[in-house]
Amino acid sequence: MKVGILTGGGDCPGLNAVIRGVVRKVHNSGGQTLGLIEGWRGAIQGDFIPLHPENTDDIIFKGGTILGSSRTNPYKTPEDVDALIASFHRIGLDALVAIGGDDTLGVASKLYTDHHFPIIGCPKTIDNDLSSTDVTFGFDTSINIVMDAVDRLRTTAESHRRVMVIETMGRHAGWIACYSALATAADYVLVPEIEPDLDKMCNLLRDRRKKGKQYGIIVVSEGAQLSEEFVTQTGEVDDFGHVRLGGIGETVANLIEERTGIETRFVTLGHLQRGGPPTAYDRILGTRLGIHAGRLAVGKDYGKMVALRGTEIVSVPLLEAVGTLRTLDPNIMKEMEEFFVD
Ligand code: F6P
Repeated sequence: MKVGILTGGGDCPGLNAVIRGVVRKVHNSGGQTLGLIEGWRGAIQGDFIPLHPENTDDIIFKGGTILGSSRTNPYKTPEDVDALIASFHRIGLDALVAIGGDDTLGVASKLYTDHHFPIIGCPKTIDNDLSSTDVTFGFDTSINIVMDAVDRLRTTAESHRRVMVIETMGRHAGWIACYSALATAADYVLVPEIEPDLDKMCNLLRDRRKKGKQYGIIVVSEGAQLSEEFVTQTGEVDDFGHVRLGGIGETVANLIEERTGIETRFVTLGHLQRGGPPTAYDRILGTRLGIHAGRLAVGKDYGKMVALRGTEIVSVPLLEAVGTLRTLDPNIMKEMEEFFVD
């Protein structure tokens, strides 16, 4: 049996652990694996490299993906779907493991529904916003990176008696912002799920200063909205129709300075949050998901996605797994609110 693996969408620390897990499981079951290059682009063009335990056993500590990634959408051009299916047969594949977020898995689900394509999904997103799984790998690494950055920003903010606004990733869900705000005792957090209360934020900063706290930390999710519109870098959209977010940190910093008179700076952490080696948690979660995705491929249990439920790795129908975002748990926001009173 020959199993293809691809990684699509934004990269995430832990992707290589998944690849390693799939390769191990398939090889231990007597099969072969190959890696399609740059997500659906490689699948369409039949661009691949052979994968085996020897070239994947030492990749667990590396960030990113050894296969490369892209936001190519085969459904944007109908001929690409035909080309993808033709390439799949030409290479001699029997199954495909697609590791990706809602866009990549949406394509996987459609291929399964429309063409009975022998496909398995593995959930991936730094934003931690996929339903059907409790946590996505990469998220733990990203909140640790944000925590480290805020710990550093705190000392310079304190020296200069400033407010620091830290913009994090999180397009539709505030998991990264909320968890890193909790871990760093931030003064306030703005997330996409909750209408921002800018008066409350500014009053907190003013009152805390009066009581002696000479600096402030505000964490803002890139997808938080101050009006009906997202704050974006350019009007450009990707193959899946997503605009490039960015800039809300600066907007919030200006607003705080105007309203409170407190000197304020902003830092956009951007792709730092997705770079570098994965944490132990993400290496282990990625490895476990990979092993089970390999198991489903070998067992020809197609149209499924592997997922973490509690401490178990389970499988769920792809169709159920895509299309619904997992936004912030209101209980966590409530717990967070305990620190937003004076
Ligand atoms: O979807 C994950 C994500 O990291 C978002 O949080 C962010 O808006 C986007 O990807 C960045 O995408 P790119 O790597 O294409 O700039």
